[in-house]
Amino acid sequence: MNVLTPTVAGVRSRTDATPGAGAAEAQGHRPVLLHPLIESLQPQPGSIAVDGTFGAGGVTAALIERVVPGGRVIAVDRDPEAVAMGQRRFARQRETVTVVTGDFAELDEIVHSCGVDAADSVVLDLGISSLQLDDPQRGFSFRFDGPLDMRMNRAQGATAADLVSQWSVDELAAVIRDYGDERWARPIATAIVRSRERTPLLNTAQLRDIVEATVPRRFWPKHIHPATRTFQALRIAVNHELVSLEHGLQASIHILRPGGRLGVISFHSLEDTLVKNSLHVAAQNCVCPPQQPHCTCAHRATLHLTSRKAIRPDAAELSANPRARSARLRVAEKLDPSR
Ligand SMILES: C[S@@+](CC[C@H](N)C(=O)[O-])C[C@H]1O[C@@H](n2cnc3c(N)ncnc32)[C@H](O)[C@@H]1O
Repeated sequence: MNVLTPTVAGVRSRTDATPGAGAAEAQGHRPVLLHPLIESLQPQPGSIAVDGTFGAGGVTAALIERVVPGGRVIAVDRDPEAVAMGQRRFARQRETVTVVTGDFAELDEIVHSCGVDAADSVVLDLGISSLQLDDPQRGFSFRFDGPLDMRMNRAQGATAADLVSQWSVDELAAVIRDYGDERWARPIATAIVRSRERTPLLNTAQLRDIVEATVPRRFWPKHIHPATRTFQALRIAVNHELVSLEHGLQASIHILRPGGRLGVISFHSLEDTLVKNSLHVAAQNCVCPPQQPHCTCAHRATLHLTSRKAIRPDAAELSANPRARSARLRVAEKLDPSR
């Protein structure tokens, strides 16, 4: 098992008056940082925008408003249920928006298969949507009892129940520690394995109860439920989120035309670190070790970072939705390779 770096995502919300937000709220998910995202990307009428994480379509709706007349939005989500809702919602705008199922790890191929060569704007708004989180049948939340599923695409791959029933204590502890940043990872992993020897571990409430019983109450985190990190870690593992993100960033850079912009919203510091490091490397003309006297890497910058620091939600957004507090937006512009 390849344990990379931890990441998480969560519910997003926004409070300003960016076009498209109201429709997204009506769909049950309010994207965070929508206004700074759209202002940073500046999609123009007639341009091509790619939304790699369609969700409930809030970002897509805002992109549509900016690219018309004459432009196009290609919207992708790995969740076929989100895509089906999106196709219904935008059925009357088929000439402008195409909503397709796919993993943004293959964003360049997906966009090409829609008959588009290159994009002017690409968005990755990472994590899961409120629609997914708030559906007990999806198994993402410890707040409801439901099957321990956690797959973004319920037609593919192993569920969280499969992982907790098959992995060793060491494997579970590594994932819960590395993806969840959970200091009680090993006791939780041990308790999971002990519990499954008695009863199959199939539901979210069972997992929540195991974590609650394992972490002594005086060590429960102040602002989050003690099972938050374990659920987050399993979700990341089930969906191979970090591998997808690494590939998705490269595919996004690849599909951008020179001068086009990429905006990535992450919800967890470890996820943001991956984004920050990948964009930083793509913005370097040399990636040789600093102690090496001469460059031998032949690496050339493909991106320009529009700001060194990530954009954070403002006070109004934070007060309306404290859960937006970890959200960070990073924006980069594709350089012209012939420069
Ligand atoms: C935070 S939500 C996006 C919300 C969306 N921007 C909106 O305004 O409604 C993240 C979405 O990305 C999707 N997703 C996560 N990882 C993905 C991947 N590797 N490829 C495609 N979609 C992905 C999830 O299924 C989820 O619907």
